[in-house]
Amino acid sequence: MKIHVTDRDGNAHETEGTEGYKLMEILRDLDYGVEAICGGLVSCATCHVYVADEWAGKLPPREDDEEDLLDSLEGRQPNSRLSCQVELTSELDGISVTIAPEE
Ligand code: FES
Repeated sequence: MKIHVTDRDGNAHETEGTEGYKLMEILRDLDYGVEAICGGLVSCATCHVYVADEWAGKLPPREDDEEDLLDSLEGRQPNSRLSCQVELTSELDGISVTIAPEE
């Protein structure tokens, strides 16, 4: 499956994802991706991404812990997600995300 990623410099990339993985696990392996310091425990927010509007609605709703951590970020936007909480499914083939600024 394809994942479109815009890095922090505004450059667009296309990468390959694997169903069943967390989006963070794919982005973490990229030079221009995310740090994901906590490894997906919803405590670091370094996996923060903005999901393109046309894709945001296809994602399951945020759990409370994701919502709370996003709320603590200056860069939070309506389409913010923690990529460690987004599981890649076939429906998300072609998803487009932008890496959020470091905080
Ligand atoms: S990897 Fe730390 S919150 Fe997602």
